[in-house]
Amino acid sequence: MVPKISTLSGYIFEYQKSTANPTEFWSNIADTFYWRRKYDEVLKWDFQKPEVRWFEGGQLNLTENIFERQIFYRGGQTALLWEPNDPEEEPRRITYQELFEEVQKFANVLLDLGVKKGDRVGIYLPMVPELVVAMLACARIGAVHSVVFGGFSAQALSERLEDAGIRLLITADGGFRGTKTVPLKAIADEALEQAPTVEQVIVYQRTKEDIPMKEGRDVWWHDLMAGAAASNEAATMESEDPLYILYTSGSTGKPKGLVHSTAGYMIYSAYTFRNVFQYSDGDVYFCTADIGWVTGHSYLVYGPLLSGATCVMFEGVPTWPDAGRFWDIVEKYRVNQFYTAPTALRSLMAMGEKWLEGKDLSSLKVLGSVGEPINEEAWHWYHDHVGKNRCPIVDTWWQTETGGIMISPLAGIIPTKPSYATMPFMGVQPVIVDSEGQEQTGNSVQGNLCISYPWPGMARTIWGDHERFRQTYFSTYPGMYFTGDGARRDEDGYYRIMGRVDDVINVSGHRLGTAEVENAINEHPLVNESAVVGFPHDIKGQGIFAFVVCTELSDGGEDGIRTSIRKTVSKIIGPFAKPDLILLVSGLPKTRSGKIMRRILRKVAAGETEDFGDTSTLLDPAIVDEIVEAATRTAGG
Ligand code: PRX
Repeated sequence: MVPKISTLSGYIFEYQKSTANPTEFWSNIADTFYWRRKYDEVLKWDFQKPEVRWFEGGQLNLTENIFERQIFYRGGQTALLWEPNDPEEEPRRITYQELFEEVQKFANVLLDLGVKKGDRVGIYLPMVPELVVAMLACARIGAVHSVVFGGFSAQALSERLEDAGIRLLITADGGFRGTKTVPLKAIADEALEQAPTVEQVIVYQRTKEDIPMKEGRDVWWHDLMAGAAASNEAATMESEDPLYILYTSGSTGKPKGLVHSTAGYMIYSAYTFRNVFQYSDGDVYFCTADIGWVTGHSYLVYGPLLSGATCVMFEGVPTWPDAGRFWDIVEKYRVNQFYTAPTALRSLMAMGEKWLEGKDLSSLKVLGSVGEPINEEAWHWYHDHVGKNRCPIVDTWWQTETGGIMISPLAGIIPTKPSYATMPFMGVQPVIVDSEGQEQTGNSVQGNLCISYPWPGMARTIWGDHERFRQTYFSTYPGMYFTGDGARRDEDGYYRIMGRVDDVINVSGHRLGTAEVENAINEHPLVNESAVVGFPHDIKGQGIFAFVVCTELSDGGEDGIRTSIRKTVSKIIGPFAKPDLILLVSGLPKTRSGKIMRRILRKVAAGETEDFGDTSTLLDPAIVDEIVEAATRTAGG
């Protein structure tokens, strides 16, 4: 088991060791895992290329570290406590032994279907235990999984399947979310019309709705599992073999498939999990994230299972049947560590404290926050009403690209401050730079956040486009990884994440590129052009504000066109990307070179009506007055 730091002086000591001699530090952590062949070299790196290789020469299988390594003493222990969407439905309790059996069987299913090491497997499933089984079965045989969030539309799904060259897709008839049923198979069928690389589809039966099965392509999960052999010998993987691809948004329209490696990711997810949450044997841990995002990958599946944790996996939504659902689950399973997103907290906070009344939350020891900045009000609400002033909050800053938590308190060890991610994790070397790339040393500084040294969990490339990987992350500030976030280091050396400094917005903790939303809006037949910016939103953190120039209005007038633009975005990306506000304008503020001046639009979106700074380089400065006037007139539109 990875070591656990238990005091502040221990943290300071270990952190110093991890930065003074990273290779010795990480090799000590790596040695607590099971290797088929020990690595020859701990780290090889060059951020210019960029190339990062951890534990080269090592051979292992990640699932062997979850199962074979732990099964003798954990076989009977619960791995997953699955809570269905409908509280009336029977929950499922799955032990490590049972999970191991399912993973081996499904690994054999994949092998029988001809899936080979290195093949990419698409996963588009609801939050059911079979999603975990599918991921681990891929890892078992060395296939690279690519999970696509169930909220993505057919078009978004097909784009990802094609980019990753997926041959086999695992989906379900549908999924339950609150009062809704998501028709996953129907969406997948539509996606597959445009993703010809997919030859086989495995369908898990969840909603039991009548769905068409395509002869020769679609097979039921349960039929395949019924005939599967029970035991499976894990494939031998190299340390740097890819474990998974996960798509995320960037500042251009095309999503990026971040590639995570096997050994480094394994070690980093497990070590951060154990230390940040201070997980102890026997604790019950509940992460509310969907596995379609990186939080679910690292802190619902890999980190916890590698640490022998008992995890609650929840299929539903926080507000159904009522806004007390999370707290019912905490009480029912005596949850000790609870990890969620600020958006969920803000929406529950808005519904009042009555939903917490009478719930026994006394089992809670640690509260976690992830995905977006947590504002002070939400932090205090979480601390006071959920944690009853006794539970430390770990505000964990990290990204899809980082693979695991980078800046965060270690629960109960690093003193917290509301809205601060606090201190860097072991091995993480944050640097704050100004716009010229000048490092801001000392405390009380603010600027762009970079990381100057590799850590084992970092993504190694963008699938199929290493040059984009270099340009996006390693070219702005040569020699460093640029996070895209702004940060402040305060007088105590504590880090506060200020939010994105690029064209990425964070809506309800979902990361979206403004260009991605613009491209979708521009697909609307009546739209000439558009510009999308984020604006402060009480619940979602950031909302989506779209400035749209139309060629003409449809019959439904302005309201009609707004509705149909939202539909277009929903169809192209997914319902979560629909603009909150759409302002129809006759033009956009552009410079003579045709560049949209987004800072003006951001100000308008934030409700400002003056002080737009220097607008003299605009082609048509009068457009600003017109936009402000339109925004004032249709405020709330
Ligand atoms: O802007 C930061 C924000 O979320 C971005 C990463 O999004 P994604 O790759 O989807 O991963 C989310 C889950 C790790 C970051 O660039 N972010 C994430 N955590 C925090 C945060 N912003 C402030 N505080 C955090 N704790």
